[in-house]
Amino acid sequence: MVNKYYIKELLKNEKLFLNKKILIEGWVRSIRYSIFVSLNDGSTVKNLQIILQKNLDKSILKKITIGTSIKVVGFIEKSLGREQSIELKSIYLYIHKSVDTTYIQKSILQPKKHTLEKLRKQAHLRFQTNIFSCIMRIRHYTSFCIHKYFNKKNFFYIHTPIITTSNCEGNSKMFHITTIDNNSTLSYKDYYKDFFKKKTYLSVSGQLEAESAAIGLGKVYTFGPVFRAENSNTSKHLAEFWMVEPEIAFYDLNDNINLAEDCIKNIIKYVLYNCLDDLYFLEKNLKKWNNKKQDFLINRLKFVLKKPFQRINYTEAIKIINKEYKKIKYNPIVWGMDFQSEHEQFLVNKYFNIPIVIYNYPSCIKPFYMKINEDGLTVKAMDIIFPYIGEIIGGSQREERYEFLINRIKKTKISKKNLWWYIETRLFGSVPHSGFGLGLDRLIQFITGMKNIRDVIPFPRTPNNAEF
Ligand code: 4AD
Ligand code: MG
Repeated sequence: MVNKYYIKELLKNEKLFLNKKILIEGWVRSIRYSIFVSLNDGSTVKNLQIILQKNLDKSILKKITIGTSIKVVGFIEKSLGREQSIELKSIYLYIHKSVDTTYIQKSILQPKKHTLEKLRKQAHLRFQTNIFSCIMRIRHYTSFCIHKYFNKKNFFYIHTPIITTSNCEGNSKMFHITTIDNNSTLSYKDYYKDFFKKKTYLSVSGQLEAESAAIGLGKVYTFGPVFRAENSNTSKHLAEFWMVEPEIAFYDLNDNINLAEDCIKNIIKYVLYNCLDDLYFLEKNLKKWNNKKQDFLINRLKFVLKKPFQRINYTEAIKIINKEYKKIKYNPIVWGMDFQSEHEQFLVNKYFNIPIVIYNYPSCIKPFYMKINEDGLTVKAMDIIFPYIGEIIGGSQREERYEFLINRIKKTKISKKNLWWYIETRLFGSVPHSGFGLGLDRLIQFITGMKNIRDVIPFPRTPNNAEF
């Protein structure tokens, strides 16, 4: 029996494997002089060079095309080439599936420059490209680190439902779920006869359920897909995206901001430590893909760690923008309006030159659950704004007082009916509590330097697109 290893393991302990007989499986990235095969197995962006046996039959050699999946047994040897320090001298080769070269020529696996758009059109094959496998590995490490981070801080992971009757964010559009189909004698208006005997939707956020879990468990977080039916065809919006939502009892807005900043910095440190090869690869190739001058990815990540994020309240932020607006050639803002992304990017990139946390927004532009400040005009909201991406985190201290909550719900004209259980939590041991939502996909966009959010999720769902 020969043991199977992955390229990442081999390269990590090169000396240990010298002259050892091993088995390896993967996909051919290139073949030169009918003898050197560059093999990738997905474990790392780096390839292993295989030296084929000299006496291989021509008919077999012909089958070893780009993309072909193979199994090789051989001896690890010191490489004479400059590109790599070890290589595998093959003594046995098995072809799992050879790829016809005419297929390769039509696909994104053809080794030449492809646009990211073209890669998206072949999303089922993207995992076999260097760029996308780098992004997916980084996505894995980021998600894994999030679980590690909250577990270490004694949070409990709560699975909140995907099917819901309420709209947490008040005004965001939701996908309706029904089992009534076109052939039925029922119409969508007969929802009282539908599966749940209620109008149900795909949830936009797990927050409301997480809040009721925090009042009892203390510190919880959800981490799952959420859905928004807005027709936003931008590079920052998905119809199905992943959100991390911690919710903490006895936390005020300041504690909440501290946690959010620490959480993001922790993730970036973890990725810098565990994904350097992937980051180097992306950095080297970013210009090519994004077609624009871009600063160095790794520096940009380190830069975020350097200083505390700049915290500024909404009213102050408005003042700065209105003082500087002529310089930046954007419209001034009236108190009560939301920022446009140009305003946010001015504050982040030009004025403060560091990620910013804007807090205490006017109540009229924020959802019903946020705690109203003593001024009666603003709520204890906070958004974290990053360079290039914009809002990465949105959160708040929650309104824990029963009467105030009822009042806010009335003002925002949201139906109380489906929220009865949420409102009732304010009658049973309600405490000050806070939480936030971190958009995983936007964070990965920042970490990987991708301009389009569709390039950081395996199978993007956007308006007009649910292929694959
Ligand atoms: O600001 P949002 O809408 O906040 C909430 O949903 C709260 N209930 C979260 C909470 O307090 N528990 O969304 C949170 C984050 C945004 O900051 C953004 O990063 C991301 O989710 N996000 C999106 N990401 C991709 N596509 C979209 N359509 C997004 N909408 C929001
Ligand atoms: Mg928001």
